Amino acid sequence: MTTSPTTAPPEGLIDALLQARRIVVFTGAGMSAESGIATFRSADADTTQGLWAQFNPQELASPDGWRSNKQRVWAWYEGRRGAVLKTQPHAGHLAIAQLADTLHRVHGHAVQVDVVTQNVDNLHERAGSLQVTHLHGSLFAPRCVACARPGAFAPGEPDESLMHLEPPRCQHCGGHIRPGVVWFGEAMPQEPWRHAEDAVDACHAMLVIGTSGVVWPAAELPINAHRLGKFVAEINPTPSGLAQYLNLQWPSTAAAGLPALIEALKKRVA
Ligand code: OAD
Repeated sequence: MTTSPTTAPPEGLIDALLQARRIVVFTGAGMSAESGIATFRSADADTTQGLWAQFNPQELASPDGWRSNKQRVWAWYEGRRGAVLKTQPHAGHLAIAQLADTLHRVHGHAVQVDVVTQNVDNLHERAGSLQVTHLHGSLFAPRCVACARPGAFAPGEPDESLMHLEPPRCQHCGGHIRPGVVWFGEAMPQEPWRHAEDAVDACHAMLVIGTSGVVWPAAELPINAHRLGKFVAEINPTPSGLAQYLNLQWPSTAAAGLPALIEALKKRVA
């Protein structure tokens, strides 16, 4: 895994961020790769294979999969939650949490940074980001399939070795508790989606970090940002399919590039 940016932060990116008063940071699984969390579609040195090369999304990430084997699905998500609990946000997550403050100190203007993530690991929040919109839910927000109220996990740490585990029951209505993530074939929750669209409308610049940009409608966000004339930059060691919608592609990783970007912003005006 690369630990230093392959190139210095591009000047065009520094300029755009210094001019922006609202910034959207749009993240995908690659954002968390250097915390040791596997991506879905990319293979890299640490995580060997993307999750969807090892597991069947129809079985584990669809309403049909849940209906045919709740115990298998619940065990898999509990295993992922257990794995995430053992990880820490990395320097890139921390850099995003510091971005608004850093810019404020550099030029004296208030800056709003909205993090819009496809990730379900809550690492942005753990790093201190305050405005985080979850497009695909969270591993930490289970809910009842019957009454939709929030559910509780069984006490204790999740056991990552289990292949089958009975999902807990809702304390209000007795329904099954399901993982709080969005599955294939399900609509995205409306409120986060509206919030993300509003943030894109209002922003001046968008940073797209660690996403392949192939899952819809999430991938619409950078495309819309481009159509609206926003500055759109990607940080990804492997250019994604979004190339035609970008002002700039920076072939760096999240944990290496983002802290370097913060340092470059500080130096620019110092
Ligand atoms: P993918 O696994 O499709 O893509 C991960 C991206 O991260 C790839 O473009 C990699 O090149 C890039 N990447 C890998 N390591 C990186 C690093 N250290 N720094 C920066 N980038 C890196 O993940 P997503 O685009 O997030 O949906 O996938 C989108 C959705 O598909 C997920 O939210 C999930 C999945 O099915 C649901 O669960 C609903």
